Amino acid sequence: MIYTKDEAQVEFTRWSKSYDRSILQTLLFGPSRKALLNQIRGLKMESPKVLDIGCGTGQFPEVLFHEVPGAKVWGLDLVRGMLEGGNGRWNHYTDRIQPVQGDSERLPFADGSFDILTCANSFHHYPNQALAVREMCRVLRPGGALMLLDGYRDGLWGRFIFDVCVAGVEGNVHHASAKEIKGMMMDAGFGSVDQFRHRGPAPFLLSLARTPQRKMPRPHLMDRSDSVSRSTISQ
Ligand SMILES: C[S@@+](CC[C@H](N)C(=O)[O-])C[C@H]1O[C@@H](n2cnc3c(N)ncnc32)[C@H](O)[C@@H]1O
Repeated sequence: MIYTKDEAQVEFTRWSKSYDRSILQTLLFGPSRKALLNQIRGLKMESPKVLDIGCGTGQFPEVLFHEVPGAKVWGLDLVRGMLEGGNGRWNHYTDRIQPVQGDSERLPFADGSFDILTCANSFHHYPNQALAVREMCRVLRPGGALMLLDGYRDGLWGRFIFDVCVAGVEGNVHHASAKEIKGMMMDAGFGSVDQFRHRGPAPFLLSLARTPQRKMPRPHLMDRSDSVSRSTISQ
């Protein structure tokens, strides 16, 4: 059994009212935002178009509004209640940040729409993570940057925190290993992947992937009929 989108709807609709006051803001979400912001600053992109996937109540879009001059930011989340929890933000900064209700596995944007994608503390909720990563690669422009951050569950402490404690509260969520995440990124067509581990009571892993300057066609697995017809042709 894997965690479903219906479960995400229930969990986050319930959590939306108190989300911004959660103790996890101090332990995990705040430090995550800081790590992402540092990376974005390091890219030195001018007025980047950014999509924050699984943005919750829009705290990170608000940070970008203040800290990255000229950035235009879209915040996407599956759960309407979470977006509505940030209404004060979206309404206050209407010119440069905007909320979108949608699913990470079917992003409602054209190919190559963004310079930067961020996704923090949300990935473990996706039933089809490989599909979400392919969507991320699709909506990034050539040379664009994906910053995917989630609980670091490799090692004993990470397993205890994420596979035991967090899974005990959230259900069958999946914190992918560093190796799994890198594999999904390379399979999706990203050209390079670097990973950084952040220590702390709630350790997290930041995976940074870049799309090639020219997007290559994604390798696809041949199904049986395809391979039969190919071998027939070559005979
Ligand atoms: C723990 S919150 C993280 C919010 C924010 N990124 C942060 O770090 O504060 C996880 C968010 O992922 C969203 N989410 C879960 N499944 C999703 C999906 N399939 N597509 C988009 N968002 C999803 C939830 O609604 C929730 O707002």
